[in-house]
Amino acid sequence: MEKKLAVIMAGLPARGKSYLSLRLQRYLEWQGYGARIFNVGAYRRETLGPASSRSDFFDPREPSFARERERIAKRCFGDLAAWLEEDGDIAIYDATNVTASRRAYLKDECEKRGFAFVFVENICDYPELIEKIIWIKLEHSADYGAFARDAARADFARRLGHYESVYETVSEEPHMKIINFGQKVVRAFSPGDILLAEMADFLGAVNLMDKEVYLTRHGQTYFNCEDRIGGDSPLTGEGVEYARRLADHFKGRDLVVFTSAKRRTIETASFFDCERVVLPELNEINSGLCDGLSYAEITEKHRDVSEARGNDKFDFRYPGGESYRDLIQRVKKAVIRIEAEKRDVLVIAHRAVNRCLVSYFIPTPPEEVPYIEMPLDRIIRIARLNAHYGCDWKVI
Ligand code: SIN
Repeated sequence: MEKKLAVIMAGLPARGKSYLSLRLQRYLEWQGYGARIFNVGAYRRETLGPASSRSDFFDPREPSFARERERIAKRCFGDLAAWLEEDGDIAIYDATNVTASRRAYLKDECEKRGFAFVFVENICDYPELIEKIIWIKLEHSADYGAFARDAARADFARRLGHYESVYETVSEEPHMKIINFGQKVVRAFSPGDILLAEMADFLGAVNLMDKEVYLTRHGQTYFNCEDRIGGDSPLTGEGVEYARRLADHFKGRDLVVFTSAKRRTIETASFFDCERVVLPELNEINSGLCDGLSYAEITEKHRDVSEARGNDKFDFRYPGGESYRDLIQRVKKAVIRIEAEKRDVLVIAHRAVNRCLVSYFIPTPPEEVPYIEMPLDRIIRIARLNAHYGCDWKVI
């Protein structure tokens, strides 16, 4: 990266800032960036304890509380800056930052320290969406553990009112505005900024649906029987049987099926009567020179390839082909498609591709990604435990 990047969230409470921050961090870390969230609310709780969660503390008419809030926000930003200056790549400053004066301070700090920065404002104006986020927050935020349900809701409404009374929408650039979780994304940054453009695509795709994601490989192919990699082999009779049983398994489900552009995944999806979408970015890792060879032939003809691959399977790039690291850069387009879906998703793809996808949902050290178990004839189910915290996964 040319410059370290500070992603500065902005928006009223209960607009999904922390949720989007968490998702963005995962997306960036998966790609190999050092990405970390600095959450001002967590600093406040740690500094002042649970009493600071009451709405009175957020009353802008109370100068001592306002000073205290500024002090904590600045300390949190100071830690963020120190981390970026040392070893971080992208820091996410998760706070409301609803006033122009706060944002002027942050912009100034970033400029002084030579960081690139972007404001990411979350705006929701659908009452049902806001209500949904409020309840997620009340259920999961450490702020409301001690409150009864109704008391928490009433206190939160007062806190929200305090923020609304001073709220100024973001006009400073560069910025992006994520409106109603992807209904619209406003982009006010240089169109040549590829990282910001990708972040806007990603943030505009994330939604709050509790969908499930299923991954499977294609059914057995003639190449599988010969232990050959790559190619575009059709399914065997056994592979067709798997395709039939797979469609039966999901019968009646509101589902979209994503396949690669390879014959074997398209054939595996052929018995589904729901929407099927071909995504070439789900094609198997490009094995270059080794495409169409069996593992025994690779060892025999390209001993250096076998050895180099054995030494570092994640970063090993097939001559004329791809590495797992390269593959993540391609598969990330499919991740955005999956995130944008509101229905359950079934991905019918390939061994290396599915390993990369699993490692997006379930944080996995890079060196372990090429060894994630991914046999034929299995379905991996990835279910979010809840909209706020990560994923759970199991093999059916
Ligand atoms: C908080 O203290 O919970 C949030 C602080 C803020 O960003 O306004």
